[in-house]
Amino acid sequence: MNVQWYPGHMAKAKRTLEENLKLVDIVIELCDARLPYSSRNPAIDRIIGKKPRVLVFNKADLADPAVSEIWTNFYREKGFTVVFTDAKAGDGVKKVIAAVRKAMEDKVSRSSERGRISTTLYAMVVGIPNVGKSSFVNKVAGKASAKTGDRPGVTRDKQWLSMGDDIYLLDTPGLLWPRIDNQFAAMRLAASGAVKDEVVDRGELCAFLLTFIDSHYPGAIEKRYGITVPEVPEAFSGDYVTETILGAERLAKGLAMLEACGKARGCLVKGGDVDLDRAAAVVLDDFRSGKTGKISLDFPEVLEEEKAETRRNEESLKRKQEKRAERKANYRSRKNGKR
Ligand code: G4P
Repeated sequence: MNVQWYPGHMAKAKRTLEENLKLVDIVIELCDARLPYSSRNPAIDRIIGKKPRVLVFNKADLADPAVSEIWTNFYREKGFTVVFTDAKAGDGVKKVIAAVRKAMEDKVSRSSERGRISTTLYAMVVGIPNVGKSSFVNKVAGKASAKTGDRPGVTRDKQWLSMGDDIYLLDTPGLLWPRIDNQFAAMRLAASGAVKDEVVDRGELCAFLLTFIDSHYPGAIEKRYGITVPEVPEAFSGDYVTETILGAERLAKGLAMLEACGKARGCLVKGGDVDLDRAAAVVLDDFRSGKTGKISLDFPEVLEEEKAETRRNEESLKRKQEKRAERKANYRSRKNGKR
């Protein structure tokens, strides 16, 4: 699996984002609580510059609270204001509004020193696809809050929603591209739903997810599917394995797990074989909706391990490709020699 995910429309999204950022005082950076590292955008610091920011980890209801605490400390130590939310239920949304007020205290007190009675604040939400931007904007604005239309002196064509007294939120969130610095990050993002399934190999994605859950949340898969996690079968052979990012052993175990989950759920084709595609859809849907449990995919120590593993796998893949090329070259020269 090799995800190179930077669709052309992202360049346009970036330009729109840069334009919209000029209109606001503060940015609400929405990330996925299950991916507090991978769902952040590496370029965001450069794009938003010195503008105040609140870091919001949404879908907190799906994340492991113990891991969320580790990341809270990690980012607070770096000086960020951190809030965890569940935009579906509305949990934590008021805390975000309070955090926005707090972050803007200086600006408000500076303008009251200059004699202004009230200061209007403008905010916008940014985040990667599917992180809950629209849900968040809807929850913040509340059902009762009608669009306020053009704000005088700000812009003609933008819609602003009231977030409370004198705070307005741009109704179109800024789209960011996710951090894909290695293929494991790509798989985590795909598992969360931020990267479309079509761009990844769903079998390998599930093999990654199931083996990850099995080693970090022992018992979760057994409990959800009523299966016994299979032993690592004989490593598969063939090209599929040489192209894997997981490594042959982990892939083989993950696919055996996927097969067992599919069997347990009755995802079978005629003749009794497991329909791996249907099994993958079930496994991904269960994970994404939290039915497999409160599971976080970014662990600080795992990120380090993965970086090393990615390097090892890439080197081994490169060696294999070089050997293949060498064999081909030898074969060609032997063939030419015979002529
Ligand atoms: P986006 O604008 O960033 O693309 O995300 P959007 O709000 O459309 O949300 C994407 C999916 O995530 C939606 O599910 C939404 O309900 C769900 N979601 C958003 N915030 C939360 C949260 O805090 N917790 C949980 N558990 N889910 C959240 P969907 O399946 O696409 O639609 P539906 O479930 O609303 O029908």
